[in-house]
Amino acid sequence: MATQFTFTPLSNSPVALDRFIKAPLKCAPPTLPSLSFSRRNSCPDASISGPRRRAVAAPVVNAVKEEVIESPATELVADSGATSPASSKLVFVAGGSGGVGQLVVASLLERNIKTRLLLRDLDKAKSLFGQQDEERLQVWQGDTRNPEHLDPSMFEGVTHVICCTGTTAFPSKRWEGDNSPERVDWEGVRNLISALPSSVKRVVLVSSVGVTKFNELPWSIMNLFGVLKSKKMGEDFLRQSGLPFTILRPGRLTDGPYTSYDLNTLLKATAGQRRAVVIGQGDKLVGEVSRLVVAEACIQLLDIEFAEGEIYEINSVEGQGPGSDPQKWRELFKSPKV
Ligand SMILES: NC(=O)c1ccc[n+]([C@@H]2O[C@H](COP(=O)([O-])OP(=O)(O)OC[C@H]3O[C@@H](n4cnc5c(N)ncnc54)[C@H](OP(=O)(O)O)[C@@H]3O)[C@@H](O)[C@H]2O)c1
Repeated sequence: MATQFTFTPLSNSPVALDRFIKAPLKCAPPTLPSLSFSRRNSCPDASISGPRRRAVAAPVVNAVKEEVIESPATELVADSGATSPASSKLVFVAGGSGGVGQLVVASLLERNIKTRLLLRDLDKAKSLFGQQDEERLQVWQGDTRNPEHLDPSMFEGVTHVICCTGTTAFPSKRWEGDNSPERVDWEGVRNLISALPSSVKRVVLVSSVGVTKFNELPWSIMNLFGVLKSKKMGEDFLRQSGLPFTILRPGRLTDGPYTSYDLNTLLKATAGQRRAVVIGQGDKLVGEVSRLVVAEACIQLLDIEFAEGEIYEINSVEGQGPGSDPQKWRELFKSPKV
């Protein structure tokens, strides 16, 4: 029987979270015309005054750009700063526009943890996270399938990494441009891990239950197009990389993705349901897990020293959960129930 705790929504301060998710990012006229990122030059509301968005020429190759969101001291910064002291971490998130990823980023920001995002589409940062101080959120453009996009400068100062990239298990629109599981879950993860500096303190990789059994029913059905096999290859590459890692294998994801919605409303709407957390080890867990729970687990794992080098499965069931209490999460990971 899993220990059950009360789950607190990601935000203890709904108003503050609501602000940073919904606040529209305003664009300034381009100031660095030498950069080739066309969307920066065609921002439709470039005449709007207020916080400025500035594209900074990063010393990187080819298509890799850094986009820094610059704003004066905002209410959000004041609100969050008051409840959460600034962290010394700089967390690099790959897949931050996805279902789990956007919750990870929102939660990091609310905790006042500096965050650097790798996104294929910079516009998604605007719609998902609104205006942010450049000290808190930096957004780099890149595609994990392309090693040239993962220049070392992208990882300067990064202390921790959360990778929650992925694509659909079966052919879909999201495979367009050859964005298949093999390319994303294997090659993309391999490229990202290869690019990381040895100084990172923890790499948390979101994988999946069933990866060790992709040839067995029912997993072989899920693996018809290679998603589980590719995820296992990505896991193995990380395990052999020498980097301090933790692999998290969720069951079927529920709650979300919330992309393009009012996140705060959804957080409140879904709180209090499947929040009791079940942790397993050995690829034995079968079931579902809330994306909210997975996102919180990723963040908690950054600080759990005994989780280094470990692989966990995670599900959530109806009941009270650990919320964001570090001690309760430690207890859960200390004693896997399955
Ligand atoms: N769905 C499930 O039931 C289930 C079960 C077990 C495990 N998982 C795994 O859990 C993780 C999170 O799932 P989710 O459904 O929350 O994720 P998701 O919504 O599918 O988001 C995937 C993220 O990966 C990014 N991405 C895709 N291809 C990329 C590329 N080539 N380069 C850079 N970024 C790329 C996407 O960015 P764009 O916005 O650019 O597309 C997006 O941010 C994934 O690893 C998934 O495979 C899912």
